[in-house]
Amino acid sequence: MIARDKLAEIENAAAAESAPPAENAAVAESAPPEPTANLMSLTPRQIVAELDRYIISQDAAKKAVAIALRNRWRRRQVEGDLREEILPNNIIMIGPTGVGKTEIARRLARLAGAPFLKVEASKFTEVGYVGRDVESMVRDLVEISINMVRGEREDEHRETAVERVEERLLDLLLPPVAEERPAASEEDGATRKFVVGRSGIAEEEAEDELQNRRRRTREKLRGLLRDGKLEEREVEVEMTESSVPMLDLQGPGMDGLDWNLGEMLQDMLPKKTRRRRMSVAEARRVLLSEELDKLIDMEEVIDDALDRVENMGIIFLDELDKIAGGRGGVGPDVSREGVQRDLLPIVEGSTVQTRYGMVVTDHVLFIAAGAFHTVKPSDLIPELQGRFPIRVELRSLDEDDFVRILCEPENALLTQYRALVATDGMDLEFTEEAIRELARIASDVNQRMENIGARRLQTVLTTLLEDVMFDLPDSGGEKLTIDDAFVRERLAEIAEDEDLRRYIL
Ligand SMILES: Nc1ncnc2c1ncn2[C@@H]1O[C@H](COP(=O)(O)OP(=O)(O)OP(=O)(O)O)[C@@H](O)[C@H]1O
Ligand SMILES: [Mg+2]
Repeated sequence: MIARDKLAEIENAAAAESAPPAENAAVAESAPPEPTANLMSLTPRQIVAELDRYIISQDAAKKAVAIALRNRWRRRQVEGDLREEILPNNIIMIGPTGVGKTEIARRLARLAGAPFLKVEASKFTEVGYVGRDVESMVRDLVEISINMVRGEREDEHRETAVERVEERLLDLLLPPVAEERPAASEEDGATRKFVVGRSGIAEEEAEDELQNRRRRTREKLRGLLRDGKLEEREVEVEMTESSVPMLDLQGPGMDGLDWNLGEMLQDMLPKKTRRRRMSVAEARRVLLSEELDKLIDMEEVIDDALDRVENMGIIFLDELDKIAGGRGGVGPDVSREGVQRDLLPIVEGSTVQTRYGMVVTDHVLFIAAGAFHTVKPSDLIPELQGRFPIRVELRSLDEDDFVRILCEPENALLTQYRALVATDGMDLEFTEEAIRELARIASDVNQRMENIGARRLQTVLTTLLEDVMFDLPDSGGEKLTIDDAFVRERLAEIAEDEDLRRYIL
């Protein structure tokens, strides 16, 4: 039985620490789960409307991706064999840098709740050469999908897990004594018991009295735990640990073997447990992941994840133009064409072996993108051109677009800056003329130097607000209004001077 001295000691400590008033409770909070409503069934119009919330103009591209996404849903509704015949409408988005190609694809994936992978086509090299083989993108997409599904399951189970962790932490703080008590006393709570006190005189205490005390202590500790008062307290946690260090077998040409040998060995060898002392805060993390592991059925997660990859997966193949061109040439060009050839089966649909099982890529949606300045889509090998039947052009953005991009999207740059500045207690305002002036300068610099599209707004704004961001929160005041005079004063000189422009904006 746990010494009563010990119990008293814990009680005292509990009382001492409960003295200061309880403030901000540091209970492990579960993040509010993302809305998991099935957005797969959005109509093309609704999809475009959703994209409009973040991306200005580029209507043709929005329309094309909306149709492609909807066609997937339509395909799922088709009965029988015909369904397997219907292939996704892979898309090539053509347009200069910084006009929203990646942004459209990323938002689309988020809308669809689809596993989404962005890769640069130029990363891949022909089979047999040093570099990544194209199948690795499917394996990466599977990993992303598993993380996504697992994340959703974690959100579903988090509440239960947090409750269990609390009980386990309390067990660690005040170890249970059940196994040391005579079994009979469980049912027969009133059994009297003689305890020899320190004085040597037989003391008599009702067992249930002791139990009540323990229960009260436990509840006191629970209160302290929830108030975050015990975070630094040390506890001893039993941890299972892997006896084999992770073997990293990744290397050139090893991509196909990436079901990690180390991991397999770990599953085969007996698990070692080790007791480790750590703070309550750390223990909470360790125990939470243990409890979540117990609650989540990984087999089911993997099944679901593979299904999502096959039916909803989106692979965004950036810089497709970098592997185009140079047909029949020598040197690196051979490799470019080789990569295109390697891409064919994956884009067309093939079965890729992953460490979690086979994945059929027939219905994975591929969205390729590239500037296609010097090469044209027609410089791709004909077979690959055929796999991307839809071409959309994104136009370069002008001053009017910039005005809108600065203000309208839900994550608009000005909104972001306003939020940042507000954390230092300052209200940041931009006049209409100031916004117009910013857009004009950004567009002007784009024309006179390299056109980097909407990314130019970032550099222009950063320069404009450098001093403001530096002086906060010391500058005092509650409201700062940026007008066109301020913008001109800060930026005109830089925008006019070619050398300054080149390095600063
Ligand atoms: N039409 C637009 N509407 C709103 N924001 C945009 C638009 N175009 C670009 N942006 C913003 O500019 C940034 C760069 O855009 P994005 O990543 O989509 O460029 P990209 O077209 O993929 O260029 P690259 O060819 O260099 O990859 C993003 O952060 C995005 O928010
Ligand atoms: Mg991009």
